[in-house]
Amino acid sequence: MAAPRILLIIGGGIAAYKAIELVRLLRKSGMVVRCVLTRAAEQFVTPLTLAALSENKVYTNLFDLKDEVEMGHIQLSREADLVVVAPATADLLARMAAGIADDLATTLLLATDKPVLAAPAMNVRMWLHPATRRNVATLRGDGVTVMEPDEGEMACGEYGPGRLPEPAAIKAAIDDALAHAPAPAPLTGQPDFAPADHRPLFGRRILITAGPTHEPIDPVRYIANRSSGKQGFAIAAAAAEAGAEVLLVAGPVPLPTPPGVIRIDVETAREMAVEVEQGLPVDAAIMVAAVADWRAADTASQKIKKDGSGAVPPLALAENPDILASVAKSAQRPPLLIGFAAETNDVIAHAEAKLARKGCDWIVANDVSADPMGGETNRLHIVSKAGVDSWDRLPKDAVARKLMEKIAHELETRAPLERD
Ligand code: CTP
Repeated sequence: MAAPRILLIIGGGIAAYKAIELVRLLRKSGMVVRCVLTRAAEQFVTPLTLAALSENKVYTNLFDLKDEVEMGHIQLSREADLVVVAPATADLLARMAAGIADDLATTLLLATDKPVLAAPAMNVRMWLHPATRRNVATLRGDGVTVMEPDEGEMACGEYGPGRLPEPAAIKAAIDDALAHAPAPAPLTGQPDFAPADHRPLFGRRILITAGPTHEPIDPVRYIANRSSGKQGFAIAAAAAEAGAEVLLVAGPVPLPTPPGVIRIDVETAREMAVEVEQGLPVDAAIMVAAVADWRAADTASQKIKKDGSGAVPPLALAENPDILASVAKSAQRPPLLIGFAAETNDVIAHAEAKLARKGCDWIVANDVSADPMGGETNRLHIVSKAGVDSWDRLPKDAVARKLMEKIAHELETRAPLERD
């Protein structure tokens, strides 16, 4: 089953810090978490902390959504399986009850078609105030699950109900809500927001390598290449979007983990080889990484110093394992094995030779003569035994989506892997 997706809306209040622990618990149990902070919440927790913990972009403002293009607020509110508001302040509950949508959090809450769970936190008087009582009753009547706050001493010194339930209790309520979540009622005449045919890789497991590898010479120096990792990460994002379970083995690149992707960071080719082997079996493997062909034969344990004589230290190289070729030969060879090749000349001929040499099913040949690694677009030729499929130059995310369509088509006739 795909990992449950939680949209966590964090309201402002002293209890907001507990949202950090909640995110940790949810991630630990394998859920995908996207956080949205209200303006007031930003006073208590930073987007940076939440981004690091959730391994996902954090949203704070309706208007800075450059993502209106890649992800509009409607989609953000609906791709989740459950919307959780924690802490739900008196103000946030009031705006929810009134249907006000004057910031990102309340807009998402009004636009969602998914179940909503609210974990309140406020001063005891505010919780017991008739206005809050009324708002909670309205929300419950609307189908929102509003948890009872904990009772105890409050930050303000008063005593009574109003403390945010413990993260473990919120997590239990989330598990319960997910287990009993009703299917969203479609609006008559509206298309389903994410029709099944937009997730053509649902139930498939895909392994992707991306980025360069760093091969240490001594503690401060390494051999590397100019791979930015952008194309591999875009492919991982597109695979997850298409519904696949995605394992991304990434060399050192400062890119955020795409939503829904499981990422394992490695440094060297040998580390990458180990993680790839452990990631098998998969329905398809796409080796986008620009693996360093050679490493330093010996890695110095201390920084190599100039000795003043002008003599250059010898740098002996050893060949790295060819990860793609070993996967091709392994007993767990994926039914679809794809290699990438950046070429500057005789692109197709080199790709055809590489296809045979590596033993894979496709070589995605990338003509880098005009646009070296690190650019935003790619011009690809998919070389296989069936022939050559040449694409126009496209942005890397468009390339990724087109590749997913082709992969989905290719896998259509093959049964998904047996899963434990
Ligand atoms: N690859 C790999 N392990 C290596 C080297 C390459 O898995 N040690 C994979 C890459 O991820 C890519 C494909 O093999 O999918 C082709 O990489 P490339 O560097 O073009 O192949 P090389 O065999 O190194 O060929 P060249 O001589 O052109 O560098």
